[in-house]
Amino acid sequence: MKKFEIYKYKVVEKINMISREEREEILKKAGYNLFNISSKYITIDLLTDSGTNTMSDLQLSMMMLFDESYAGSQSFERFLESAQNFCNKRYIFPVHQGRAAEKIIAELFCKEGHYVLSNTHFDTGFAIYKYHKAIPINIPTPEIDEDNFYYKGNIDLSKLEDFLKNQKVSHVVMTITNNALGGQPVDLENLKQAYNITKAYNKPFIIDGCRIAENAILYKKEKKIDTSIKEIIHNFTSFCDIFYMSTKKDGIAHMGGFLATDVEEFVPKIRQLSILFEGFPSYGGLSGKDMEIIAQGLKEVLSEDYLNDRINQVAFLGSLLDSEGIPVIKPFGGHAVFVDAQKFIPHIEPEKLVGQSLVVELYRLGGIRTVEVGKLMYGKSAIRNLVRLAIPRRTYTYNHLEYVCEVFKEIKENKHSLKGFEIVYSDPLVPHFTAILRPIG
Ligand code: F0G
Repeated sequence: MKKFEIYKYKVVEKINMISREEREEILKKAGYNLFNISSKYITIDLLTDSGTNTMSDLQLSMMMLFDESYAGSQSFERFLESAQNFCNKRYIFPVHQGRAAEKIIAELFCKEGHYVLSNTHFDTGFAIYKYHKAIPINIPTPEIDEDNFYYKGNIDLSKLEDFLKNQKVSHVVMTITNNALGGQPVDLENLKQAYNITKAYNKPFIIDGCRIAENAILYKKEKKIDTSIKEIIHNFTSFCDIFYMSTKKDGIAHMGGFLATDVEEFVPKIRQLSILFEGFPSYGGLSGKDMEIIAQGLKEVLSEDYLNDRINQVAFLGSLLDSEGIPVIKPFGGHAVFVDAQKFIPHIEPEKLVGQSLVVELYRLGGIRTVEVGKLMYGKSAIRNLVRLAIPRRTYTYNHLEYVCEVFKEIKENKHSLKGFEIVYSDPLVPHFTAILRPIG
């Protein structure tokens, strides 16, 4: 059956159409870094699925019930109930976004020279732990290169145990889904074992679960089980000491996040850090309006109709590209399609930022904004050179995604003429956000 969006328009935003020549000028001025380009010059924005979600009518209505009281607002009460229901933890601390939770976790656990292990850290956590003088390390499952392996989000259990046995480790973070490696799901069994191994060495085990609902639908499909999404999420969150999420993702919101725990000994310190850095614990850097949007979003994300629509869109774009011979990471994950830029454009070496070369060409030809996930983002720690096409929630149609594929087809025709890039300037901790680049040759 023909696929169609399970939403209809109520509010629209016009896309500003500009020419290829204009985009060439814009690229030069932006130092070939798409973070430096105004959204008015973007045709299809696949830079991120974070905070770019389209609100539902119910979210918009709930937002109008906002209560901006400094302490004990009703918006917080609704937020608290919804977050508890979502992750099944008692103590909930709102924060202004995911990296604020990471900062609190770093303050709690990081020690100079100690390792922070993860299936794969997202770049913010990676940079924050480094900033706290710890050593973030990615130990993804060895099966990441096998096309048919489903749970590429898993952690390498034997490396995890090796590190815990032989090195100083501050804490372990499971990123669910595994964003940086392809938005791939984590298996409950792998999580459980990782948790048990970590607890045998008495170290804190953290879940970064900003896309845990997407993980739950991918898990449910693969296991062919009847369990509800909520129950699956609760099964996952039962294996951690602290759960945190940026609600800019599966909260279907524009801003926000929270930390959640049942471990009472962590609570006073988290409360103190929240007051120091975020705000009083009944708002933690969020307005009442944000908390209302999140409270409603965390309910809507539990709907299987919603989640099926979500992963169907990702798989639709992934399959289109695949059928055109564009190398994509398979199976398709929850929030984005990841193109293997190295395989697609083998004549540009990784050092010459092959991923960024594709990112620039997608913009130049089609006004499509994407992000490099490779050498530019992770430097020497890069495992692959990918380009991520992140799909904002409930925002684009199947037609938009077909257009993206058309642009890829055009690139494929002339890919041999593409050139690499070199970095003129970048901040050492957050290179890809700040880089100024120039084409080589
Ligand atoms: N963890 C993961 C897995 C993320 O993907 C992100 C953000 C964060 C933490 C930090 O959350 O942005 O609210 O501070 N990812 C965005 C992205 C930026 O484009 O994937 P934040």
